[in-house]
Amino acid sequence: MIVARTLAELRAARAAVSGTVGLVPTMGALHDGHRTLLDHARADNDAVVATIFVNPAQFGPNEDFSAYPRTVEADLATFERAGVDIAFTPLTAEVYPPGFQTTVEVEHVSQGLEGGRRPGHFKGVATVVAKLFNMAQPTTAYFGQKDAQQVVVIRRMAADLNFPTDIAVIPTQREADGLALSSRNRYLTPAECAAAPVIYRALTAAGEMYAAGERHPDALRATMQAVLASEPLGRVDYVSLADPVTLRELDTPTDAPMLASLTVQIGQPRLLDNALFPLHLNTRAGLTQTLGKT
Ligand code: PAJ
Repeated sequence: MIVARTLAELRAARAAVSGTVGLVPTMGALHDGHRTLLDHARADNDAVVATIFVNPAQFGPNEDFSAYPRTVEADLATFERAGVDIAFTPLTAEVYPPGFQTTVEVEHVSQGLEGGRRPGHFKGVATVVAKLFNMAQPTTAYFGQKDAQQVVVIRRMAADLNFPTDIAVIPTQREADGLALSSRNRYLTPAECAAAPVIYRALTAAGEMYAAGERHPDALRATMQAVLASEPLGRVDYVSLADPVTLRELDTPTDAPMLASLTVQIGQPRLLDNALFPLHLNTRAGLTQTLGKT
């Protein structure tokens, strides 16, 4: 595995590989969710480029940029085990050189859900992902369902700016109790850890109601709210049922797929999770076909 720390090193390593290239962008602190993205990229491609960059532009002034966990040595060992060919771990000045003043803003789909809570977040994400696409020139880039709005924003950006890169969407990896893997789970106390699977139970309960024929967004949202309310350690931030392409909140019944998204604060971390309804769409093929399809 080549570890590139500068853009020049990345470009040289990229120029030396041929065939298809899979890109897995991360901010490090890797867990099995990231590992699945790496495995899909490895299985699909001739070469794999994976990146570790804690992108300051996507953190708000009151967010955890300086506290974000940094475990680069362990992360590089994970990349190596996963068969990554080129690891890219740039310094901030390499990505945002002095005089930097060009950004990418994906207008509508960046605004609701996480974008509403974290102004500027998706501008930071879209900008850095556009840069990583230009730097690594991937055939396919791999993103997790866990950050569904991020997928929608990046797909819109890739289509709008004519990037010749396919986006693959990989299902959320979970603990056995349903809790979605996240670098933030490490901040949960044992009691909070036991409470956190309520999020997955809320998604599943509404998904089962959907399977039984319920199509009214209000009824499905009410079910998720009721399950979440049964857990005293959780403070609900939002419960959303939206169109999986436009991310507009649904207010009337529809047979088209729906994206259910929840964020709940449990202890210190704000935990987020989502599912497509019908539930059978929560596979790589179903997600890639449905979420943010342009
Ligand atoms: P990060 O939070 O490190 O996540 C990297 C990728 O791993 C994302 O595509 C994310 O959706 C995916 N991922 C995280 N948890 C997952 C889980 N439990 N199951 C499956 N996939 C999971 O997302 C970012 O970094 C950044 O915004 C980035 C795209 C790198 C741009 O800075």
